[in-house]
Amino acid sequence: VRTRRLLLNGFGHVGQAFANLIVNRRKAIETRYGVDLELTAIANSSSVWQSATASMPIDVILRTIRSGGSFAGCPGVHPAAGGRWAIENVEADVLIEATPTDLSTGEPGAAHIRAALARGLHAVTAAKGPLVFHLRELRTLASERGLQLRIGAATAAALPTIDLAESCLAGTDISRIKGVLNGTSNFILTELAAGQSYDQALRRAQQRGIAEADPTLDVNGHDTAAKLVLIAAWIWDADLRLRDVPTVGIVGVAPSQISAAAKAGSKVKLIGTAWRDPSGVHASVGPETLSIMDPLAHVEGADKGVTFTTDTMGELTVIGGKSDPTGAAAALLRDVLRITGDRA
Ligand SMILES: NC(=O)c1ccc[n+]([C@@H]2O[C@H](COP(=O)([O-])OP(=O)(O)OC[C@H]3O[C@@H](n4cnc5c(N)ncnc54)[C@H](OP(=O)(O)O)[C@@H]3O)[C@@H](O)[C@H]2O)c1
Repeated sequence: VRTRRLLLNGFGHVGQAFANLIVNRRKAIETRYGVDLELTAIANSSSVWQSATASMPIDVILRTIRSGGSFAGCPGVHPAAGGRWAIENVEADVLIEATPTDLSTGEPGAAHIRAALARGLHAVTAAKGPLVFHLRELRTLASERGLQLRIGAATAAALPTIDLAESCLAGTDISRIKGVLNGTSNFILTELAAGQSYDQALRRAQQRGIAEADPTLDVNGHDTAAKLVLIAAWIWDADLRLRDVPTVGIVGVAPSQISAAAKAGSKVKLIGTAWRDPSGVHASVGPETLSIMDPLAHVEGADKGVTFTTDTMGELTVIGGKSDPTGAAAALLRDVLRITGDRA
């Protein structure tokens, strides 16, 4: 059995869900994959926990936080200058980056991933910001050092997109990627179609923990655009920028548009499309009325979906993938297992 020491950066919804998965599945993963995933350190913006010096194990910390305690207040959690400090001081094999996504700077994740790769750690990330700005640089840095950077948790997480393209569609020529890539906006559109108002639908999404406290990036289409840019960059090595993607969100979708679509047997969905033609790679995001013959018309609630158009395998659609912190954490775990090279 090989041990892989994991450094978890970011201990919010996704980071805690990831720690919880490791606590609950460590033994089963060791048996099935022959690898012992050891959480060796956890950092948020101002505190760090290290297994080597901890007086409180991580399952107890998770329980303490669930019952209202703070991470910083747990015994053995020390004040530290955030994730950067942990990357520079803790011995680990893989960085798990679960810090906030900032689509205007890419930080703090970009600096974290760069520093981790420079120190010889593999990296997996749920944060899209660093990748939207620096994917090519970080990918090159990783490959120059014989390390891996995996981004499945940032490219629709539990819905397989780049993983599907890389493995199941290997050897095909993908000409188009079309997706419902944001669970929150799809949930809101589904509720609108059921007669709820926009505000009611958004409130319900927040109550169910689907939407963030600040759902701006979800409803204005920028989260969809970011995922699309990353999927296109990964699959086609495209140098597509967010500013190159005309993006319209769901805020302006009128109830009359939804009811007109319903009368015609159609559905309004927030669609991101990227396509490749001889002039290059292009992408756009916006609400579209889909015929019921389109598989993506059947993506309901907080589910997501993606259709790949290929030359030799035809069109393939995947629908589903849990849009919540556990789904994102499961995608991080999938990426860690891919890095450690273990198969079922
Ligand atoms: N939520 C989802 O379902 C989902 C799905 C897919 C991808 N994602 C992505 O996953 C990431 C995390 O999402 P989340 O919902 O878990 O966010 P969150 O609840 O806001 O948690 C973010 C965590 O990052 C920490 N952090 C901030 N700056 C840091 C720094 N410099 N060093 C170390 N830690 C730092 C925060 O610590 P403090 O509390 O100390 O500020 C907090 O613990 C985001 O990039 C998001 O886009 C989320």
